[in-house]
Amino acid sequence: MKTLIAYYSRTDNTKKLAEKIAKELKADIDEIQDEKDRSGWIGAFIGGFDSLFKIKTPIENKKDPEKYDLIILGTPVWAGKMTPAIRTYFCKYEFKNIAFFSTSESEETKQFTEMTLLSKKPITTLSIKKSAINSNETNKKINELIHQLKQIK
Ligand SMILES: Cc1cc2nc3c(=O)[nH]c(=O)nc-3n(C[C@H](O)[C@H](O)[C@H](O)COP(=O)(O)O)c2cc1C
Repeated sequence: MKTLIAYYSRTDNTKKLAEKIAKELKADIDEIQDEKDRSGWIGAFIGGFDSLFKIKTPIENKKDPEKYDLIILGTPVWAGKMTPAIRTYFCKYEFKNIAFFSTSESEETKQFTEMTLLSKKPITTLSIKKSAINSNETNKKINELIHQLKQIK
């Protein structure tokens, strides 16, 4: 099964998790860039506003997810929702099979409800607190995720 890990990350937490999953799965990886300036507190504030009001944003990504059998899509949680870059990604592409992961301050899961509505039911989801990204518990959860994904082969 041809698998792509695609993610958006502003401050590298989601990137670190994406890289761990990609390494374990030996899968391709693609960073989705938000073309809006999200740097500094003003960028974060506007980002939170855009997320809350479901505003899309111009994005850049290198790999075409429609050429893959499975997309594992990662986002930080902003204002309890997916980030604008991921919202745009959903509008741009259709996916054969999908799984979601996220990082957040607290262990948030409600973002997955809307992500499911915008695409399709994910095979599995993984929500990780940013403080736990490098923990053994997260490594165990990644192994469980991989186990679940292997069921669809
Ligand atoms: C604008 C903004 C809004 C956020 N909203 C939430 C939130 O609603 N719930 C939460 O648990 N964390 C929230 N966070 C924390 C991020 O989800 C967390 O730091 C995440 O790991 C950042 O991922 P990144 O380093 O890949 O950008 C927010 C962060 C930002 C910048």
